Amino acid sequence: MSATIIDGRQIAAQMREEIKAETEKLIREHGVTPGLVTILVGENPASVSYVTAKQKASKELGFYSVQDSRPADISEADLLALVDGYNKDPRIHGILVQLPLPKHIDENKVLYAMDPDKDVDGFHPVNVGRLMIGEAKFLPCTPAGIQQLLIRSGTAIEGAEVVVVGRSNIVGKPIANILLQKKEGANATVTVCHTRTRDIASHTRRADILIVAAGFPNAVTGDMVKKGAVVIDVGVNRVGEKPSSTVPGKMVPILKGDVDFDAVRERASAITPVPGGVGPMTITMLMFNTLKSAKGAAGVD
Ligand SMILES: NC(=O)c1ccc[n+]([C@@H]2O[C@H](COP(=O)([O-])OP(=O)(O)OC[C@H]3O[C@@H](n4cnc5c(N)ncnc54)[C@H](OP(=O)(O)O)[C@@H]3O)[C@@H](O)[C@H]2O)c1
Repeated sequence: MSATIIDGRQIAAQMREEIKAETEKLIREHGVTPGLVTILVGENPASVSYVTAKQKASKELGFYSVQDSRPADISEADLLALVDGYNKDPRIHGILVQLPLPKHIDENKVLYAMDPDKDVDGFHPVNVGRLMIGEAKFLPCTPAGIQQLLIRSGTAIEGAEVVVVGRSNIVGKPIANILLQKKEGANATVTVCHTRTRDIASHTRRADILIVAAGFPNAVTGDMVKKGAVVIDVGVNRVGEKPSSTVPGKMVPILKGDVDFDAVRERASAITPVPGGVGPMTITMLMFNTLKSAKGAAGVD
């Protein structure tokens, strides 16, 4: 068996079309334009490229987009005041503070200073709590993207045995929580594995849906996967460099997931590739959350 590829680029493009159409409708019928601010502190190249991609996506969708770049030596108090200003700005429905922040700034303080109703990353404790009790407002973007990949690829989630490898606050725990909820697109039986789990393979081999976010290549090998399982590979590992196929003379990273793709695809019924699986969904879900926030502000469901 060779698994079907779950194409994250295609599903993300389809969702962006939907978001764009809904944005146009919101502007036309309610005069509300979704507004997203991305706050960048310093010039970390990876952060610059993430923020650029978020701004590009938000502009393409017709959002009101603000890129607010501050020097790396901005004081914590000034950054907190900046966030507070956007909390009060009615044109802004989503605030994204790009992490990591410089060491002299307490990231949690900045996160807690954000209005939970504008926390489109879904990391504020109020939003974590809302998810836990089944009253989610904003789902964190990467796990929300994983759920959409499962739903839109036609994977049966209800009643499925889901095994998650990894328990981070940004991927493992929230995706476990999302799929556990008594809701459509969820209702799974979920097991979460981590570094203290005994005999991980005994768990992964039971999975109808296996979600891997362990943070290193080949964390899951072919023998750890049940025949016919659906495998979502969240991992992004730089394993080298290669010449760019579009820009002569430029080197681009070679990316690998956390799953031994070639071996696992022979056993799975469907699998996400890296790149082109979970990655394209993350920014799309940020846009989805910003639109949702704007709809809430406009009193639209
Ligand atoms: N595509 C995207 O948009 C996206 C977004 C976020 C992350 N990622 C990628 O997803 C991966 C995971 O990210 P993360 O932030 O969740 O990573 P993380 O914070 O490093 O967490 C890794 C988790 O995996 C567990 N783990 C590590 N080694 C293990 C092993 N041998 N067996 C079982 N569990 C093990 C750890 O367990 P302990 O808790 O016991 O240490 C931890 O819970 C990374 O490759 C990251 O680059 C991709």
